[in-house]
Amino acid sequence: MKYRNLGTTGEQLSALGLGCMGMSFAYGPTDDKESLATLEKALDLGINFWDTADMYANGANEELISKILVPNRDKVFIATKFGFRFKDGVAGPSSAKGTYFDGSPAWMKVAVEKSLKRLKIDTIDLYYAHRVDPNIPIEETVGAMADLVREGKVRYLGLSETSATSLRKAHAVHPIAALQSEYSLLTRDVENGILQTTRELGISLIPYSPLARGLVTNTLDVATLAADDFRRTLPRYQQENIANNNRLVVEFAALASSKDCTPAQLALAWVLAQGEDIIPIPGTKKRKYLEENVAAINVNLTSADLTAINELIKRYPIVGERYSEEAMKMVNH
Ligand SMILES: NC(=O)c1ccc[n+]([C@@H]2O[C@H](COP(=O)([O-])OP(=O)(O)OC[C@H]3O[C@@H](n4cnc5c(N)ncnc54)[C@H](OP(=O)(O)O)[C@@H]3O)[C@@H](O)[C@H]2O)c1
Repeated sequence: MKYRNLGTTGEQLSALGLGCMGMSFAYGPTDDKESLATLEKALDLGINFWDTADMYANGANEELISKILVPNRDKVFIATKFGFRFKDGVAGPSSAKGTYFDGSPAWMKVAVEKSLKRLKIDTIDLYYAHRVDPNIPIEETVGAMADLVREGKVRYLGLSETSATSLRKAHAVHPIAALQSEYSLLTRDVENGILQTTRELGISLIPYSPLARGLVTNTLDVATLAADDFRRTLPRYQQENIANNNRLVVEFAALASSKDCTPAQLALAWVLAQGEDIIPIPGTKKRKYLEENVAAINVNLTSADLTAINELIKRYPIVGERYSEEAMKMVNH
């Protein structure tokens, strides 16, 4: 395993973290036994940076992770998030009608206690606001989060899907260690000034969905996704867009094959190559994918490889937004 610094904190995190969302939520049938074995495997492989959130299956993901986290507390740097709430307690993804965002200090104080209880730990290593609440000044949300650091409930602060302007305002209240935003070959929003700002402020970028939710792996068959699979609600995975998007994916797979690696490994190597301040968190609930993905750390890309990848993306621009119209209003805020 290779390790990278988390911002200016001095913490060394595995260059690839582990996204745990799919173990409980969003990507088809779950299998707790295999998920727990995957967490154990992550420990064996030296993956010490695990990512969850209170909204993933309404807390069930935090509870699942706690089973391996608690007996291995000193080996894992655990990140979780707060802010999404469910009307009438009916859990769903961020795009569901009953899901809304609450970045108020009052809710944050309740949410952190719930996460600590479910994770069965005394301190969360990295606590993110899952989005920026458009109705609450970011300084208020982060001011309340900073109180959690002073109280010892949280060690470091993070934000997710935050604009450069909000990032600056937040960082002026309390140092922000990490920005978690979607970043992959197919989602490049952060290249538009946000990455420049994280670099200026010494904040790590934690790319989520670095495999474009499985799309770039050339194994995703949208026609056979489970009825409740979250990707069914996202424009770029719709049947009418997938014929176009698959042309890119198939050629990308050929490029990977010419480098003697898998498309998933090439996609992760591309993200890793964007800078030492970047720590992607690919998600999986399967040991076989985890082992495959971790080998991306040893895939070296030349400048000719990077050029070839960028040319391919230009040749087949991705069709369809990464989120629904409503959910897009909540990102880069
Ligand atoms: N801050 C936010 O708003 C936000 C939003 C989304 C996600 N996240 C976090 O980021 C993490 C990662 O993102 P993500 O899980 O959405 O997307 P991702 O990492 O881009 O892709 C995950 C999908 O790819 C599949 N996969 C993984 N490795 C593979 C391989 N080698 N070959 C073929 N398929 C493979 C997984 O399958 P299996 O499920 O079958 O293993 C899953 O369906 C999440 O787990 C979550 O912790 C944060």
